[in-house]
Amino acid sequence: MYSHATTGANFDINNLYEAGRLDVVARCCLNVLWISEHIRDNAQVIVSLNGGPKPPVAIRFDGSKLGDIFPSEKGIAFVIKKALKAVRDENWIACHQGVSVSRKSFQDVIKEASNIYVLDSKGEHISKANIKDGTFVFGDQVGINAKELAFALRKGKKLSLGPKNYLASFAVAVVSWVLDQK
Ligand SMILES: C[S@@+](CC[C@H](N)C(=O)[O-])C[C@H]1O[C@@H](n2cnc3c(N)ncnc32)[C@H](O)[C@@H]1O
Repeated sequence: MYSHATTGANFDINNLYEAGRLDVVARCCLNVLWISEHIRDNAQVIVSLNGGPKPPVAIRFDGSKLGDIFPSEKGIAFVIKKALKAVRDENWIACHQGVSVSRKSFQDVIKEASNIYVLDSKGEHISKANIKDGTFVFGDQVGINAKELAFALRKGKKLSLGPKNYLASFAVAVVSWVLDQK
């Protein structure tokens, strides 16, 4: 996920909107990682945070190892705060059970990914594309900036849910559901 949210740990956990829309990030994580009270143990989410004060920060949630997180926006935000306090350099370091953090950029993450689909209303419709497991790239409430989008598309192709512009959290919920059916 490409996000414009804060990279500072000093945000108010009760006001995620003001933290550059960490509420959007938290909702996307919830929709990919949790099926009701169960964790989707074949899913990972990497959030690329690009807001101030010190971008970039990448936070990786690994569904196969995730533990001790309450499935709510606040629960996710609590772990993001921990990650932002722990981040050091470009190496992944563990900051919570199943969660690691690094200073990798969005492009670094894309370089390490394979089978990339970029969620975009102008792509091939999901009902026609024979999607396989892979990396599904999506933006926040602002979207992915043009340079990063072009970079992701060097390795990936656009995948669409139709011409309507949906909330990021809805778009990833639909893709997760489609993958669940396979
Ligand atoms: C609220 S939208 C971003 C809006 C932003 N103004 C833009 O045009 O990119 C959040 C993200 O959800 C995904 N998304 C929204 N609608 C979509 C659609 N119809 N098909 C595929 N992905 C979609 C995209 O990845 C998008 O970056």
